[in-house]
Amino acid sequence: MKIAVLGAAGGIGQPLSLLLKNKLPAGSDLALYDVAPFTPGVAVDLSHIPTDVNVKGYTGDDGLTEAVRDASVVVIPAGVARKPGMDRSDLFNVNAKIIKGLVEAVAKNAPGACIAIITNPVNTMVPLAAEVLKKAGISDYAKKLFGVTLLDTLRAETFWADITGYSRGSVKIPVIGGHSGSTILPVFSQALGYDSVSSEDIEKLTVRVQNAGTEVVEAKAGAGSATLSMATAGARFALAIVAGLQGVPGVVESAYVADESGEFAPFFARQVLLGKNGVESLKPVGRLSDYEQKCLNDMLPGLKNDIQQGVDFVQNCGN
Ligand SMILES: NC(=O)c1ccc[n+]([C@@H]2O[C@H](COP(=O)([O-])OP(=O)(O)OC[C@H]3O[C@@H](n4cnc5c(N)ncnc54)[C@H](O)[C@@H]3O)[C@@H](O)[C@H]2O)c1
Repeated sequence: MKIAVLGAAGGIGQPLSLLLKNKLPAGSDLALYDVAPFTPGVAVDLSHIPTDVNVKGYTGDDGLTEAVRDASVVVIPAGVARKPGMDRSDLFNVNAKIIKGLVEAVAKNAPGACIAIITNPVNTMVPLAAEVLKKAGISDYAKKLFGVTLLDTLRAETFWADITGYSRGSVKIPVIGGHSGSTILPVFSQALGYDSVSSEDIEKLTVRVQNAGTEVVEAKAGAGSATLSMATAGARFALAIVAGLQGVPGVVESAYVADESGEFAPFFARQVLLGKNGVESLKPVGRLSDYEQKCLNDMLPGLKNDIQQGVDFVQNCGN
């Protein structure tokens, strides 16, 4: 199976590629693409690690075509990241053009690929990518396209363990909605230990998960946003897609995906069952507390605006 990473030389791309080189199933091909000219060097560096994953690096326009050709999974962390004082929507203008170009190349050279978008603003980039795929005639895009929101889940699970005393990673927390500010909604009411935490602490923790990306941006003081934790989430998500494609049963992870029923919004983050065709089914959101239900109701207009911005971008491009 071939896995391509687009934006592979960046802060997320390099550790993500490292994790994939170490963890992909034996015999996989790992293609690294970035506009940075040293990208083939990143691949040479990784190629000295003794795992049975073939790694090759590409740059330039022809390099993009070769990197994505016949890939089964394409993971995209390409684009600019936040600096202090910016929110994810400030990245839209630059990253929208990048994502449009990359997804067009995937649609042309790997039309059956699952595409996992890390680039922010995820809420808008994924609907934008869906429009590109629709224009290219890829009708099953809803099964193949993912916004990577798993870092929100990792954060929720880490912070929950820290206040409840459960060991880190042992309690699963679904995170629903989207991937920015108040659209990030950890569903703590469904977690083990919920009854032991006060409603005041639940609200504080919810806000901490929503602002956790900013916590990292400020701590790095201008040197970028979350990269190592994001690479961990991105690799875990890419490996889950690969496992699903290979027929492993019961692979469930959270992601921001199209919901053709439009239950909450046309795109919505939730737990997803992954299988041989990508998305097998969307897991029900389940019962929410009154606080979570209010957060959900309050976020939906903003989330729908984010989605529309992505749709409009492609429709107004006129090609
Ligand atoms: N989904 C999430 O939870 C999450 C978390 C953190 C960061 N992010 C986002 O991930 C993106 C990348 O962050 P980063 O810290 O790795 O940034 P970075 O600047 O370190 O790396 C981005 C890389 O993309 C490359 N690039 C730019 N244009 C490209 C193109 N057209 N084709 C291929 N590569 C291209 C750059 O050369 C660079 O190597 C940002 O948009 C950031 O906001 C998302």
